[in-house]
Amino acid sequence: MQKLILLIILIGIITTEEASLPGFKISLTKPLFDEAIKILVPLAIKDLQNMNIPDIDGDFDSPIGKIEYQFTSIKLNSISLSNAKLSLVSGGISISISGGSASLSANWHWKEKSWPHVSDSGSVDIDTSSVSASVSLAIGSDSNGRPTIVTSSISLDLGSLNVHFHGGDSWLYNLFSGEISDKIKSSVESEVNSKVKPMIDQAAEKFLSTVPLVEPIDSNVEIDYRLVSTPEIEAGKDIMCPLKGEFYYIPHPHEYPIAPVTMPSTINTEMGQFFISEFVFNSLAFSYYQTGMLSATVTPQNVPSWFPFKLNTTAWKDLIPQLFNTYPGQTMNASIGVNSAPVCSISSSGILLQIDGFLRVNVIQSSKMAFILNLFANAQISMNISDAKIYGNFNNLTTKMTLNASTIGQFSLDSLDQILDLMTQNVLVPLLNELFQKGYPLPVVDGAQLVEPHFYFYDKYMAITSDFKYTPSNNKIQQNWNWN
Ligand SMILES: *[C@@H]1O[C@H](CO)[C@@H](O)[C@H](O)[C@H]1NC(C)=O
Ligand SMILES: *[C@@H]1O[C@H](CO)[C@@H](O)[C@H](O)[C@H]1NC(C)=O
Ligand SMILES: *[C@@H]1O[C@H](CO)[C@@H](O)[C@H](O)[C@H]1NC(C)=O
Ligand SMILES: *[C@@H]1O[C@H](CO)[C@@H](O)[C@H](O)[C@H]1NC(C)=O
Ligand SMILES: *[C@@H]1O[C@H](CO)[C@@H](O)[C@H](O)[C@H]1NC(C)=O
Repeated sequence: MQKLILLIILIGIITTEEASLPGFKISLTKPLFDEAIKILVPLAIKDLQNMNIPDIDGDFDSPIGKIEYQFTSIKLNSISLSNAKLSLVSGGISISISGGSASLSANWHWKEKSWPHVSDSGSVDIDTSSVSASVSLAIGSDSNGRPTIVTSSISLDLGSLNVHFHGGDSWLYNLFSGEISDKIKSSVESEVNSKVKPMIDQAAEKFLSTVPLVEPIDSNVEIDYRLVSTPEIEAGKDIMCPLKGEFYYIPHPHEYPIAPVTMPSTINTEMGQFFISEFVFNSLAFSYYQTGMLSATVTPQNVPSWFPFKLNTTAWKDLIPQLFNTYPGQTMNASIGVNSAPVCSISSSGILLQIDGFLRVNVIQSSKMAFILNLFANAQISMNISDAKIYGNFNNLTTKMTLNASTIGQFSLDSLDQILDLMTQNVLVPLLNELFQKGYPLPVVDGAQLVEPHFYFYDKYMAITSDFKYTPSNNKIQQNWNWN
């Protein structure tokens, strides 16, 4: 029985491994995290300063008898953590801070336990310049394929404190300042250690919740950016997120039949690196093919205004005499479309789109096909990025037609050049614009801006590498860092 369970688990692992080649990879490199920590540490400090530290009370045997004391309004007035060092380690991120400094203040009050209940009060300043801290973050993924960041360990050590009492009789405080300093130190440390973990976890969750998982492109098509497996960390170098990167036709989602190729995780040292396989573009074309948007029929009742001829064989007499001779005076309809989903191929010279289409002309009264033309179109796609969306531009569009089948015999296609040109301008170009110029969102968090992205083309995949600028929109991170 146990063996069977083991076998099932193994099969499960093997099959998920097989299904998990990403179409789209994002790698975040060490320089990005080095920038991120410069933003995050000041935010953390601001919030540490708003932290409520619980009052401390206790009692103490003094030369004048047992006294009870209280420290209230304990405040972390300033903290400097300038020496933060971040490392990418197996399983996550580790941050260590040393030589930080902090200053605290509090009010004190003491009272003799028995008669005559002598009491006194004043304030105290505490400073230290040997603060050290460490935080370990585990990077993983949840069951929805969203990346997760969870604090796996955290510790703050305030080091040795210098305590300065103000007001009252100093001889007394000097007696117990060592004990007080220890109490304040452990109270502040345990408060920070217990409150910072949920604070970081909530902020990370909120931050990552803005990463798109499944983004609708329009009412028919969506893109799936879910993780296909846990992010992979190369120690000291980068974190790579393997994403599905597949477009789907929403009403009937089908897997694109050809799997993506294996892609590298990094090609240079820029902060963010996107790897997009041909598979992504092909699944885009495949899903639009399934929408039926890529074909249309023109009937005598709905001839588009740009079309110069009426749909009857008399009007086409000079263009194709064979048509009129075989089917004199008949009305026609014409279907234009693709025989299969357009195919994208990426190579070192760029992205090429190939369309295999047809034009089929029927004569209505005879219920017959008159002729079918094969239409081939090629276009080079160039890319640009704006507002974290990727846009395509096509250039060097070429078209060609051949006769596929005919019930009117052979005829010269030269006379149809004008019609082909008109169809290219009025059907194909708007269609390509529709497909490529609507802008596809890159899977980045809100507020991340690409700075001078670079494009690279390889065999069956492309890469975009870029530095990033991050402007938290609406103080998204900070909203959650709330101590109370
Ligand atoms: C066919 O087209 C010609 C030329 O445009 C037009 O004069 C004629 O009325 C049309 N015939 C029919 C049946 O639509
Ligand atoms: C076009 O004509 C053919 C042949 O008569 C007919 O079978 C077909 O239904 C027509 N299509 C449309 C959309 O009218
Ligand atoms: C990117 O392409 C789109 C669509 O053609 C165009 O509107 C936009 O101006 C281009 N942006 C850049 C920066 O070239
Ligand atoms: C278009 O074709 C010309 C000639 O082959 C070539 O020089 C040019 O680079 C091509 N444009 C693009 C965007 O590929
Ligand atoms: C004719 O078109 C059909 C699809 O409409 C295609 O399968 C076939 O290969 C074509 N034949 C020729 C000779 O081009």
